[in-house]
Formats: sequence, structure tokens, C-alpha cells
Amino acid sequence: MTRALVVYESLFGDAAAIAHAIAAGLSEIVPADVVAASDAPAEIGPEIALLVAGGPNHAFGMPRPTTRGSAVEDHGADVPDLRAGLREWLRSVRAASPGLRAAAFDTRDTRHPTLTRMDHASRTEEKLLGRLGAEIVAPAEHFAVTGTRGPLAAGEEERARAWGRALGERLFSGAVRR
Ligand SMILES: Cc1cc2nc3c(=O)[nH]c(=O)nc-3n(C[C@H](O)[C@H](O)[C@H](O)COP(=O)(O)O)c2cc1C
Repeated sequence: MTRALVVYESLFGDAAAIAHAIAAGLSEIVPADVVAASDAPAEIGPEIALLVAGGPNHAFGMPRPTTRGSAVEDHGADVPDLRAGLREWLRSVRAASPGLRAAAFDTRDTRHPTLTRMDHASRTEEKLLGRLGAEIVAPAEHFAVTGTRGPLAAGEEERARAWGRALGERLFSGAVRR
């Protein structure tokens, strides 16, 4: 059966909450699973028609081992393996579905709007999704946190759920409605 998969990286729980909200919105239309990149499968099976991938902005881009280390040392994050995140998963995963469609999201600290404009995590996510052979089917969405450790700005989980539902409606338009 056609499914959607949401894969995320999250140091403090904010991108995880967004990923779960997106999956909840999608699952109003199509069965959807959500998983952390460190636990995500090594191969995306042919049943996955849509892959949504996202995580936080770190140093204006996707997290790397060094920025994860800073999150642990400077902000008390709990990261079992600094080398296992979304960037690494997207680089190593195999995609079995030739018609895989994809969309990206990121979380960003919007306290400094001038700097926020330099954030490009979702652009790199899209690039890596493209290298997997996926077709990007929606503009990346950005979700606001109010500090390094969160929390999310008010209303962001609701917005994520609505974004997931809208994506599901546009792509699957009743074909797999349960
Ligand atoms: C090492 C580090 C670097 C960061 N750099 C940025 C940045 O360049 N731009 C930004 O908007 N937020 C930055 N942040 C804030 C993160 O975006 C924020 O911690 C994240 O969105 C929270 O999501 P999470 O709870 O899923 O980890 C940084 C955070 C850390 C720990």
C-alpha cells in the first residue's frame, strides 16, 4: 500500500514535534510513518511514494558532527552518536522507488531575522533528496523556534499538521483516502 515517510533529525525535540505533526496531517490522507534519521531504514521501499525530510539549522546549514558536538557541550543536548543524523542518512540511504517524491522542512531560531535569512538547511536537504533521485514536489517549509533549545513558536505544530495534510491532499487527492 502507498505510504509516506517523514524522517527527521532533532537535538532538542522541536523538529521531532514538527515531523510528528506533519505525519499526523499526512495520515489524514495517506498512511504515514515518522522516524528519527538515526533509526531510519537503510533502504526506502517501493511502497514509499512520498519522503519528507527535515531538521534544524545549525551554523546556517544542516547539522554536522561538529555542530552536534556544540549542541551537547554548550546547550546540554543528548546525542548518542555525533556522526548519525539526517545529512548522513540522506547520503547513504538507497531509494527503491523510481517515482519517489519528496519535500523538505527545517526549524530555525527566528530571534535574529537578519541572520535567519542566511539559513539554508532545507536547501541542502533538497539537494540531497534530489541526489537520491526524488522529485521535489513542494517548496520547503520553515518552522520557528524561540530559542536554541526551543520551544517552538506558538501555532507551529498546527501549521505543520496543516502543511502535511495539504501536501497529502495535493499528491494523493483521494486515491488512498482511508
Ligand atoms: C550548534 C548550533 C548552531 C545553531 N545555528 C543556528 C543557525 O545558524 N540558524 C538558526 O536559525 N538557528 C540555529 N541554531 C538553533 C537551532 O536551529 C535550534 O536549536 C533548532 O531549530 C531546534 O530544533 P531541535 O529541537 O529539533 O534541535 C543553532 C543551534 C545549535 C545547537
